[in-house]
Amino acid sequence: MAANKVEGAGSRDRSAQDERGLADNRALWDTLAEFHGTDADDRSYDVKSFLAGKQTLRGIEKDLAGDVEGRDLLHLHCHFGMDTLSWARLGAHVTGVDFSPRAIIRARALAEQAGLAAEFIEADTQRLPDTLNGRFDRVVATYGVLSWIADLTAWMGGAAAALRPGGRLVLVDLHPVFQTVLTFDPFVADWPYGGGIPQRDAMIGTYAHPDAPFASQESTQYPYSVGEIVTAAATAGLVVERLGEHTETETDGRHLLPQGPDGLFRFPFSDTYLPILYSLSAVRPHPHR
Ligand SMILES: C[S@@+](CC[C@H](N)C(=O)[O-])C[C@H]1O[C@@H](n2cnc3c(N)ncnc32)[C@H](O)[C@@H]1O
Repeated sequence: MAANKVEGAGSRDRSAQDERGLADNRALWDTLAEFHGTDADDRSYDVKSFLAGKQTLRGIEKDLAGDVEGRDLLHLHCHFGMDTLSWARLGAHVTGVDFSPRAIIRARALAEQAGLAAEFIEADTQRLPDTLNGRFDRVVATYGVLSWIADLTAWMGGAAAALRPGGRLVLVDLHPVFQTVLTFDPFVADWPYGGGIPQRDAMIGTYAHPDAPFASQESTQYPYSVGEIVTAAATAGLVVERLGEHTETETDGRHLLPQGPDGLFRFPFSDTYLPILYSLSAVRPHPHR
């Protein structure tokens, strides 16, 4: 995903800005949901392999989620459903949520094609429907989540409310340190580390296919620090079990990182590495008696 910053956004009339950002972001993701996983997208979303039975989940989220057989699992930011349906293949009863109507239409069609049971709901994850409250053993969100969210407190509150007592949030996302980087060669870091101030960008192409033939579409993203994310989870009443910071990855969705001879991608820093992903596991506690 290449992005050119076109406008910094201050705190002036923040809620109007956020509503405009939400509308722009939904329009962008509708465009991307029409493209990802089609024959023209030969880079990351391999629907044919998925339909042939390939798992799309990575070890990080599978390890944190544990055994999901027979569990009720809510997948937030489900896009067109491949990961949601991969959880279903592991035996979970799955519900996917995304705010893009095009993504939800495609996710429902993919479930039918794959012969897998799943419910897909169109909703903004900052305003999840009350009908989801208290229904899930796992709430999962992965790879490209919180930077789209203006109201981190509302997002965490909705995720926490959807859990049953004892249920677990599994969040795996790009590390805020990695998100500051625009290019490695030359090294340019142009994004804030946290703060939640809207960053309005002209989006060119997509992370899955940087050369995709799209007209530039504006979007708004929000940088959050690790501290802000963990604090939001605690504020929502969740108890953090584990916070991981991962310095290597098998795939680089941003197509930025240098790849080592072992095939893994890393973020070089002096003679060591900085984190590319973080993973958070947090539990909704049982109420005190
Ligand atoms: C980077 S993609 C996630 C991709 C997913 N990990 C996958 O591999 O399929 C981000 C997703 O978040 C969704 N999204 C962004 N903002 C949202 C919001 N406020 N509410 C619900 N979904 C949102 C987009 O429509 C998109 O499907």
